[in-house]
Amino acid sequence: MLVGSPKVRMPPGPRGPAALNTLRLVQRPVESMIGWRRRYGDIFTVRLLVFGTGVYVSDLDEIKAMFTGDQSSLRAGEANAPLAPVLGSRSVLILDGPEHLRQRRLLLPPFQGSAVERFREVIAEVAEAEVARWSVGDRFRMRDRMRELTFEVIVRAVFGVTDPARIERLRSALVAVIDSQAVLLVPGALRRDLGGVGPWAAFQRRKRAADALLYEEIEHRRRDDDLGERSDVLSLLLRARDEDGRPLSDAELRDELMTLLLAGHETTATSLAFAFDLLPRHPRVLARLRDELAGGGADYLGAVVSETMRIRPVLDAAERTLTEPRTVCGWDLPAGIRVYPAILAVQHRPDLYPEPGRFRPERFLAEDPPPYAWIPFGGGIRRCIGAALAQAEMAEVIRTVVERVDLEPVRPEPEPVVIRGITMVPRHGTPVRVARITG
Ligand code: HEM
Repeated sequence: MLVGSPKVRMPPGPRGPAALNTLRLVQRPVESMIGWRRRYGDIFTVRLLVFGTGVYVSDLDEIKAMFTGDQSSLRAGEANAPLAPVLGSRSVLILDGPEHLRQRRLLLPPFQGSAVERFREVIAEVAEAEVARWSVGDRFRMRDRMRELTFEVIVRAVFGVTDPARIERLRSALVAVIDSQAVLLVPGALRRDLGGVGPWAAFQRRKRAADALLYEEIEHRRRDDDLGERSDVLSLLLRARDEDGRPLSDAELRDELMTLLLAGHETTATSLAFAFDLLPRHPRVLARLRDELAGGGADYLGAVVSETMRIRPVLDAAERTLTEPRTVCGWDLPAGIRVYPAILAVQHRPDLYPEPGRFRPERFLAEDPPPYAWIPFGGGIRRCIGAALAQAEMAEVIRTVVERVDLEPVRPEPEPVVIRGITMVPRHGTPVRVARITG
């Protein structure tokens, strides 16, 4: 069976051309996904530019099967291959199969819940320093402030760097590489040095500069007398051994550091920007959050984080490519197509979340949602490695900000959600004004 062959019957979905579907999805992802699911049900097909034909699934049993069942006919790394020039070919995001599992097993321990608790102090310190720089009347885009903050958290918690000059050097070199992702659209034939001119050559120069710093950090840490006692992620990775007793090579370490930085900082910053769009527009939620924090409780804070990620997930869907035909919700899908566990559509299902469009953190206090109904971090052997860190970071930053300042949205309307690159973001970056310093 081949995609596009007349014999293949695909689940119904929007009939428009790929360009129109893509435009709708990019400009109004929330409305499009919810509307398509309402119209076509728990499985629907969408043709998109660049990504091709894909099938979105919001049936919980099918999602569970995709996340936790036999993975031999599902590929997740393949879809990230365009990021290889930035991340490197040994990145956990790019690999599939046994090589992916080896990297993942080495990377996971420093990100497990108990290990992440150690980073709360670093996060709170970075957040307090950020808020201390704000004055009444300041206006800024929260997403910009949060990008700087999450970057610093990654560099301190993951790389273990605390010297401000070194953080700044790393920041400018790494941001230069990450921000040049547009260069990845340069077609293969033009990916040449061309005598040192052109966008590809400039990208390669920025990458060499960033790599030199990363290798310097790796070398510096390897020689650190305290390596055995240090708890930052790089030190833990330097000490890690796989089942055969092999450590990560320097090249693998470089690729994973870049991966953690890329996967971990924008996503968390965007999620925080959504939180700070929602909170000031829901005064009752904000008041309850402050009350509970003042009383020493943190349950409601956790619920605010969960509800923000439910109503405004950063990724509209996880992604798997079928290497063999597979039956999903009764449809025989051909090899080669992409199947998307539909994070956004699932998290807006009215049968799972009554009044799904309302921001109501209380819903997470009464009971946990059913398995696979809350999946902002994906699932199974590809589940986000940084999930515990991201949630701790969101909670600590939200706590610090609401305890210290009153923020006012600059725009009267809630932020429209749009897709930029592959993530959903608040269109204007959540512009806010500092109305009052309270703590
Ligand atoms: C709010 C913040 C974040 C969100 C919404 C998010 C979301 C996701 C999602 C949806 C996936 C794909 C899961 C799947 O396909 O099943 C993923 C993978 C990943 N994330 Fe995150 N993430 C966040 C923060 C972080 C942080 C802080 C880090 C690390 C410091 C991180 C590192 C990774 C890595 C390494 C993977 C690849 C895992 C694999 O392929 O095995 N993420 N993330």
